Amino acid sequence: MYKEGSPFTPDTPVLPEKFVGREIEKKIIFDCCDKALSNRSIQSIFVLGERAIGKSSLCSFVRTVLEVKNRFLCIGAQLGGIDTIENLIRELLRSLVRETRSKENTYTKVKDFFGERLKSVDLFGIHFKLDINPDELPVSASDFKFALAEIKNKIGFEGLAIFLDDINGLAENATFANWYKSFNDGFALWDNRFPLVFIFAGLPERRFQLLKNQNSLDRVFTPIEVKELDPLSVRTFFAESFESKGAKISNKLLDLMVYHSGGLPVFMHEVGDAVWREDTDSNINEEDVSNGIISALQTVGIKYFGPQILDAIRSKKYRNIIARFSDLGKKNDSSLQFRKSELSDVLDPDEKRSLDNFLSRMKSLNVFKTGGDVPKGEYRFASSLLSGYFYLIAPFSM
Ligand SMILES: Nc1ncnc2c1ncn2[C@@H]1O[C@H](COP(=O)(O)OP(=O)(O)OP(=O)(O)O)[C@@H](O)[C@H]1O
Ligand SMILES: [Mg+2]
Repeated sequence: MYKEGSPFTPDTPVLPEKFVGREIEKKIIFDCCDKALSNRSIQSIFVLGERAIGKSSLCSFVRTVLEVKNRFLCIGAQLGGIDTIENLIRELLRSLVRETRSKENTYTKVKDFFGERLKSVDLFGIHFKLDINPDELPVSASDFKFALAEIKNKIGFEGLAIFLDDINGLAENATFANWYKSFNDGFALWDNRFPLVFIFAGLPERRFQLLKNQNSLDRVFTPIEVKELDPLSVRTFFAESFESKGAKISNKLLDLMVYHSGGLPVFMHEVGDAVWREDTDSNINEEDVSNGIISALQTVGIKYFGPQILDAIRSKKYRNIIARFSDLGKKNDSSLQFRKSELSDVLDPDEKRSLDNFLSRMKSLNVFKTGGDVPKGEYRFASSLLSGYFYLIAPFSM
């Protein structure tokens, strides 16, 4: 059922005023920014983490704070489909127009900067034409350095902060890795250098690819690993979200929602949203919460795991084994990894007979991984979204 005014946003990066937690990660990024300002240096940060763990939300929060402080001009680009340096630079220049459109003073300077090249901007700055010849584009590492300095000086900020989200294709491109390394080194030794912060965000395997293509980038990037949210932040998030809408909820029910979010931001939003929809009188009761949790788990399954995995885990034989993850969870320190023998220990003889079949089916569906850095005899969930899901559906799987 649709209900208006939900304070939860499961499908989009969270608004900065709703952002919770990540104190350590924020501090590392802001310290890097301060360092860039104090010694006019370049700082490169890589925000890495699994799908939907909160990378873009963290970047967007940091960006908002930097914009308020007004020392950095912030530019951001979504690099999803971008795999060449030319396209990266074009996208950055386009972002400069798009994102300063609503800031009158800055935008006047941006227009002056592009001059004749900026054509036919519509009312909202969404459709415009940037006429830059390919041979004018600052694609070499050293031209790029001069171009950024020109932008910063003409637009009049102390430094530049550049956010590059969803680095996919570029991470695979060895030319990009080498280009960034020479750009970084050239900039660091440049007499006219200025405070410059690059914040990349992407999956851990993208960072791995980037470093594989150019080993020395290891020293260049400060890695920020985004993991599950701590329970207190999740609790604060729920309490403030409901309070903002005048809905009442007891501490006990808040704790239940925190538990069923498993520290995963998307679960947190889905659980919140589903409970919000169940409630009819702004007094959240036990029934709203338990129905909401079940409905959120269904939504998460459909949205994130696809029909093959869902079909497999709905089969009776496998559901019995999945139900045993509740017992496994009590014995196991890591929720991401488990020993086959530990799982086998909590099964009854009938379930034991299906175990090999279950494990190989889940492996073929990329739910579990083995081999590589996973010790022999152990299985690792492919993501914390999957492991969270398995542990959360376990009690409902009998
Ligand atoms: N710190 C936070 N506080 C509140 N909500 C958050 C927080 N971090 C993430 N979220 C929420 O979690 C969901 C996923 O966040 P986000 O889009 O930032 O993740 P991501 O890691 O960038 O995902 P992807 O890998 O798909 O790009 C969104 O609904 C977002 O609103
Ligand atoms: Mg993202």
